[in-house]
Order: sequence, then structure tokens, then C-alpha cells
Amino acid sequence: MTTDNTTPRRWLRRAGAPRLEFGADYNPEQWPREVWAEDVRAMQEAGVTVVSLAIFSWARIQPRPEVYDFAWLDEVIDLLHAGGIGVDLATATASPPPWLTARHPEILPVDKFGNTVWPGGRQHWRPTSPVFRAHALRLVRALATRYGKHPAVVAWHVSNELGCHNVYDYSDDAATAFRTWLRDRYVTLDGLNEAWGTDFWSQRYSDWDQIIPPRQAATHPNPTQNLDFKRFSSDALKDHLRAERDLLRELSPDVPVTTNFMVMGQMNTMNYPDWAAEVDFVSNDHYVLPGPQARDELSFSANLTGNIAGGRPWFLMEHSTSAVNWQPINVAKKPGELHRDSLTHVAHGADAVCFFQWRQSRAGAEKYHSAMVPHAGEDSALFRSVVSLGRRLRDLADLAGSDRVPAEVAILVDWESWWVSENDSHPTDRLRYRQEALDWYTALLDHGIRADVVPAGAAWESYRMVIAPILHVVPAGLAGRLRDYAATGHLVTTYFSGIVDQNDQIWLGGYPGAFRDVLGIRIEEFAPLLDGETAELDNGTTGTLWTDRIEVTDPEVEIIARYKTGEQAERPAITRRAVGAGSAAYVSTRLGADGVAAVLPGLLDAAGVTSELPPALRGRVELARRGDHRFLINRTSEPVDLGADGILEPRGVVILRS
Ligand code: GAL
Repeated sequence: MTTDNTTPRRWLRRAGAPRLEFGADYNPEQWPREVWAEDVRAMQEAGVTVVSLAIFSWARIQPRPEVYDFAWLDEVIDLLHAGGIGVDLATATASPPPWLTARHPEILPVDKFGNTVWPGGRQHWRPTSPVFRAHALRLVRALATRYGKHPAVVAWHVSNELGCHNVYDYSDDAATAFRTWLRDRYVTLDGLNEAWGTDFWSQRYSDWDQIIPPRQAATHPNPTQNLDFKRFSSDALKDHLRAERDLLRELSPDVPVTTNFMVMGQMNTMNYPDWAAEVDFVSNDHYVLPGPQARDELSFSANLTGNIAGGRPWFLMEHSTSAVNWQPINVAKKPGELHRDSLTHVAHGADAVCFFQWRQSRAGAEKYHSAMVPHAGEDSALFRSVVSLGRRLRDLADLAGSDRVPAEVAILVDWESWWVSENDSHPTDRLRYRQEALDWYTALLDHGIRADVVPAGAAWESYRMVIAPILHVVPAGLAGRLRDYAATGHLVTTYFSGIVDQNDQIWLGGYPGAFRDVLGIRIEEFAPLLDGETAELDNGTTGTLWTDRIEVTDPEVEIIARYKTGEQAERPAITRRAVGAGSAAYVSTRLGADGVAAVLPGLLDAAGVTSELPPALRGRVELARRGDHRFLINRTSEPVDLGADGILEPRGVVILRS
């Protein structure tokens, strides 16, 4: 569920005029004390307003089971406070210290092969370990008691990127908790057997204790067991978030609670639309993934984060000033990208722009990851660029608190469809759920059309056009909503949509069972394409990955494009059925961003959606709107002439007030 607009808004606890926050993760324990005062001075120079503190400090705060050392943290917090810098104080539970794992190895996660995940990195804890939970909450209690009323503390930061490394744990603790979760969901074993289809391959359970997480099996594990394990694993971490949050709220009710989500790239293991209501404000971490759609992917993620946040402002907790350290090849940002990336997040609703991290580490696995203060020091192009970004954000203070202006087109994203459509034992294992959605987003930007990326469970009925790429898992309720929508709105869906219900069981009678009627088509067999195989369409586009053998069942269906080559030659490839004042269209192959862009004009025309940009800017510039501000974001590395509004620098952003 996304946050609804009736829930009171909460944001950082601080006095003073609204502003955009600016800052970073701050890890002073990695540096001698003399550096701390230097840090605060340089933060002031950069315009830093907030830092996330103590994220990985457990071993320093509690060096031994019965010993707490707060002296250094007191000093850092007081220094920051004196410098006018707010503290987003972490609960420090992200990475358990060596004494804890040595004493309680039973908190260590176990992988699907039964191997222990050893300490040595970070986040080596089982989400369902009662022992870990007790130790974590003890630390949270100590921190909240000591700092809950400290005037520097503007927010609580629960753990860190929950589930980044430890979401799937196959330990015995996980097995016990999974059984409890399944009992809540199904009540009876018969219910579970029915939902999981356990009459297949002699999997019928006669006792709850026989059920285990989907550990490494001889062949494809039960797909519904897999789906439930993914649901359960997301819920288990959500439960951890709630446990820490509840204690913080009890001990420090005036300070809002957040945790940093990871809405980016292929990261899909935590169902964030389902988590959003648990925090006082949504925070996100985003890192640019290199490739031709890198910039669009950032915009897509920022937009989705804004919609997960129910359209309200959100907190960009981490991104990078330049290179990261965890990709195979880590490239530095090009001139302009630091500002453009930051402002694109702001354009989509971020009221805080923060980085990992303040000072680039000298030691450890992240020493080659960029920061606000690089190894070169403050006398560097990077720090100067950081300082100028701080100034720019200061000048945008009047944006703070303003809502995003909804677009006319929505692209639906559904975590369960993402999980299931990429499962094994399917017609193809080459399908990439998020890439299909991103291609539609890119194609819309190519036409100068703003689109919102919206969780499938949110309220999207007021959009003129709803695109539902690979909406694979469709319970009856969602099918009904989409059918009703198409009577007045314009629905577009794609291959492998509307195929299964919430138990990953097929809607029978011909594909796509959930949408057959509204689309006016029927498919008896899927026809995926081999690697390198293509299917030409008669509109000049080329399909890859997938085709369908479509039979039109309603004479009213208009065939927008047919296959020209391949097994489906002459058959419909793209269809559209008028439904009252609305319509329902189907795209049966993977067209890629360029192919989608070729098909879009007809679909947009029919829906009455037009670009808000002048023709000369379409494609080259992304438009985003917040309050009465219009962001013009250069998608290219060339200058763009904005006419009366001046020149948009390569990779630049111009912000206009209407
Ligand atoms: C995040 C994490 C940070 C840092 C960063 C590097 O996943 O929260 O602590 O590791 O990535 O990009």
C-alpha cells in the first residue's frame, strides 16, 4: 500500500524555514579526532545541512557485550550541532560486531546450499533470528534513550538498506518463521496445498513441520513456494523495521523514523510499495548503472520512489558524487552529471540530496568509492562541484514541500509480477521485467511525454493512459480494476501479462486469461524467440524475445501491426480494442525503446495525450514538474537552445517557475 494523502506529513524534526537538505553518510570513526572539526568546517563551506551518523558503528558504540562507549559519539553529535548540522542518527544495527557473531554464530545467515554466510563483510545477520533481534533492540534502546531528545537529532535511520545482502536466508530460524507466516496466510494445510498446487510431483504436505524454505533442490522448486518465500522474506525484514521503529517511537516520539530503500536497477527483493506506510517519510538510495539508458533509469527510479511515497516529498539518502566501487568497471561522472543527477531526483520529489559518503575512506572495501571530499582533499574539482551544488540547492529552498504534478500517463510496476515473470521453468529465461518498463519510459521521454511510474496497487484510475508492461500476476481484483479502467481510460499491456493469479496458477481458457475479454484476443500457445531470432512487423519495427499466436475474438479489434516475418507472419502483433470511451491495447513482442517509440504516437493520439514541450525540445529534454516549477533536464551531451529561456548546457538542468 502506498501512503495515502490523509496520513499526516512528517519530515525532519527541525525549526526554521523550509529548505532542501544536503549532506551525506558521515563515518567519523574512520578518522582521528583532529579531522572531525575540519569536517564540520568543510561541511559548512559546502552547505551541508544533515548527515547520517553511526550507520556502521555498532562495534565502536558497544565494544563488548556489557560495555557502551558513547563518549566519542557525544562529541561528534555536539560538534555537528554546534556547526548547525542536523543528525539523521542510525540505529547502528546494520552490521553486527565480531563479539556478537563469535558468541552467537546462530545469528549468521545460511544460503540455499546450507553454507553459513560468515562475518567479514557486513549485514551478516538472519532477519528472523530472535537472538539477533534481542541484541539489536537492546542497542536501539540504548541509543534512543541517550539521544532521543538531543536537539541535533532530526531523524532516526533504521539499520541500513535492509535486505541488501541478507534478504534470502534459508536457515532453521527462517524455516520456523516461514511456517508461522504460511499458517497466517493459509490457516489450513489444505489451503496451502491448494495454493501451491502440491499434487504436482508428489509434494502434498501432511504436517506444517515438513515445509522448508526453497533450499537447493534437485530441480525447479515449487514456483508458488518460491513466490511465498519472496513475500515472506520481504515481510521478515519489514517486521524488523517495525520492531526498531516501534521502540524508537516509544522512546523518542518526536523524531521521525525512516530507512533507506533501494529503488534502483534490478534490486527487487523488498516490496517497497508495501513498506512505504511503515516509515514517517520515504528515503531512497540510487546509484547510476552505466549503459545507454543510465540517465532515464535514474529518472524512472526517482519517479517511482516519488509514487511509492504517495506523491509526497522524499529523502535521497545516498547517491554518488562520482564513481562507485562495486561495478566491474567504475567510471567517474562526466562534467555536469553530479548536478544533473541530483536535480533529477529533486525534480521527481526529493527534498534532500545526500551522498555516500562525506569523506572518502582511506581503508576498507569502499576506499575507491567517491565521496563529497575525495582523497585529493578539498582542493579538488570534485569538492568545488559539491560546493556549487550546495549553493544551487540553497537557492531552490522554495521548492521544499511542494508536490509533484501528476502526469497523464502511468506505467505500472508490480513487484510480484517482477518476481514471478523472471522465474525459471518458463517459456523463456531471457525476459527482463524492469527493462520492458524502462523501455516504455524511455520511449515516452523520446516523445517529450511525462509519465509516472506507479505501483500497481496504488490509485492510477485518474491517468488518461495506463501502460502495464508484463503485468503477469493478476489477482481477480486487479483484473477487474483494469477492465473497469479500460471503459474510460486507455490501457496498454504487453506479452506475458494477465497470465496467473496470486498463487501463480494459470487463468485458464486461453491466454491472457485475465485480460482476454477486455483485449478481445486469445492465445493458445506462446512463441518465444531464440537468441538472435527476430520477427519483423509491418510497421517497420522488429520484435525480439517473444511473439504470440494471436487469434482475434472480437470483430471490433483493430490490428495496429502484423508480423511480416517468422512463424507468426500475417498474424496480429499489436492490437487495440475500443471499449466505450476507453480502449485496451496489446503488444505481443519486445520492441525495445525505439520500437515502442515508433508505436506510441498512435496510442497517445487515441488517448488524447500530447507533449507539454515545444517540438524542438521533445526527446532531447526531459520535463518534470513540481509545484509551480518546471524542470528542463538535458538528456544529451550537447547544448540545447531553449529560446527565450536561454541555453541548456550539456547534461544541464534549467528550473523555471511558471
Ligand atoms: C550502499 C550502502 C552504503 C555504501 C554504498 C556504496 O549500498 O548503503 O553503505 O556501501 O552503497 O555505493
